[in-house]
Amino acid sequence: MTGRYTVILAAGQGTRMKSKLYKVLHKVCGRSMVDHVLTQVELTDPEQVVTVVGHGAEAVEDLLGNRSKYAFQEEQLGTGHAVLQTEAQLGDKEGMTLIVNGDTPLLTAKTFEKLFAYHQAKGAKATILTARADDPTGYGRIIRNDLGIVEKIVEQKDATREEAAVHEINTGVFCFDNQALFKALHQVTNHNAQGEYYLTDVIQILKNQGEIVAAYQTPDFTESLGVNDRVALSNATRIMQQRINEAHMRNGVTMVNPDTTYIDVDVKIGNDTVIEGQVNLKGQTTIGSDCYIGSNSEIVDSQIADHVHVTSSTIEEAKMASGSNIGPNSHLRPKANIGHDVHIGNFCEVKNATIGDRTKVGHLTYVGDATLGTDINVGCGVVFVNYDGVHKFHTNIGSHSFIGSNSNIIAPVEMADHSFIAAGSTITDDIPKHAMAIARARQTNKNDYWDKLPLAQDPEWH
Ligand code: UD1
Ligand code: CA
Repeated sequence: MTGRYTVILAAGQGTRMKSKLYKVLHKVCGRSMVDHVLTQVELTDPEQVVTVVGHGAEAVEDLLGNRSKYAFQEEQLGTGHAVLQTEAQLGDKEGMTLIVNGDTPLLTAKTFEKLFAYHQAKGAKATILTARADDPTGYGRIIRNDLGIVEKIVEQKDATREEAAVHEINTGVFCFDNQALFKALHQVTNHNAQGEYYLTDVIQILKNQGEIVAAYQTPDFTESLGVNDRVALSNATRIMQQRINEAHMRNGVTMVNPDTTYIDVDVKIGNDTVIEGQVNLKGQTTIGSDCYIGSNSEIVDSQIADHVHVTSSTIEEAKMASGSNIGPNSHLRPKANIGHDVHIGNFCEVKNATIGDRTKVGHLTYVGDATLGTDINVGCGVVFVNYDGVHKFHTNIGSHSFIGSNSNIIAPVEMADHSFIAAGSTITDDIPKHAMAIARARQTNKNDYWDKLPLAQDPEWH
């Protein structure tokens, strides 16, 4: 039985990125480029994937784990040399080997499948995935003879003026007969402008041996975009963003201005949710059905249930249960757990706190390190004072209680169910059930104070 194998080339230094980060680990819509490539490769169900890694290899291995095997390329001597590093693992296999660059994050499994089908139909030893580029700068050019048959690939730096004028480019994706590939790789030299062992030279070598070499041209050039610098990285992000947004819209999500809505690849959104422009949804975020996410909201690594309304707010590592709402201009920080039909209004911050169903936190309030029951009314300007400068303390507020405006609750405090805090109180002690705590100076009125003022003697002021 013959198998199907994949090699992902990811050892290049990526000098053109001018980055401390290993090139293929740069992210496009929340997922690193090499992970995008592997995710699509996995959909083609390969028997074994080998990723070629170089310096910084641990970071790639940490990310991809046992989804791939690894081959180490100590020195980056070119793409051909890179593939040769997998010989110990793949050299003796019978079958078909797909080779993909780790810096082409937009390629899809569908295109790989079309390449396989074409390769098999042609009975080829090698098939190149090509595309037509309006601007072929930087890519290897596909050189065909007068009959239209592929002769070789010429890299930009080695191309004559005539060759450089060709618009058909090498996407960096190949399908090879595995045995023919490794045999030919041993014949590749580094006699070229970059002094590198080019994988692309294998095409001419096989051709000269009289083998069948084919080229399948994909109609969508954008898929083959190779990311060598930050300009290409932003182009890839824009294309991926469009792709992601279109998929959500086809699933029943309304996007009012999708050009300005940025959604990471792992985000899930239910149908009949409306998302305005200028919204960022990032990381492992889930949003339910029938929600509204207003402009200038950013939601990161959070779970938002159905029928939730978010207006101009920032939500990170938090949960909102169904029917709850927030904003404008509020902030849920890590471990904020918001119950059903809860109202979080304007300029509120919630951190490491659970807020029970139907509780209202309407205005200018900080809730940190607290557990609030259900049906509570928190007045305007309430501060949960959770920090003494050294330690953080927790506060519990019972259900159906009432916290008057401008109160400070100095943790740790236990407030029982059905109890009250009078407005303007600074609470330091526990409050029993049904009690009302008042902790502020009692008001005294100085009667006829006016008459004591020197000004009062002036007849004009009466
Ligand atoms: C390569 C192709 C070019 C094609 C383009 C498509 C060659 C010689 N050229 O050019 O024809 O049009 O991709 O995007 O193959 N890598 C290694 N080890 C190395 C060198 C590179 O693992 O020694 C990896 C890189 O990490 C990268 C991939 O191979 O993922 C391609 O290398 P890169 O230097 O980006 O090649 P290009 O100049 O883009
Ligand atoms: Ca490249």
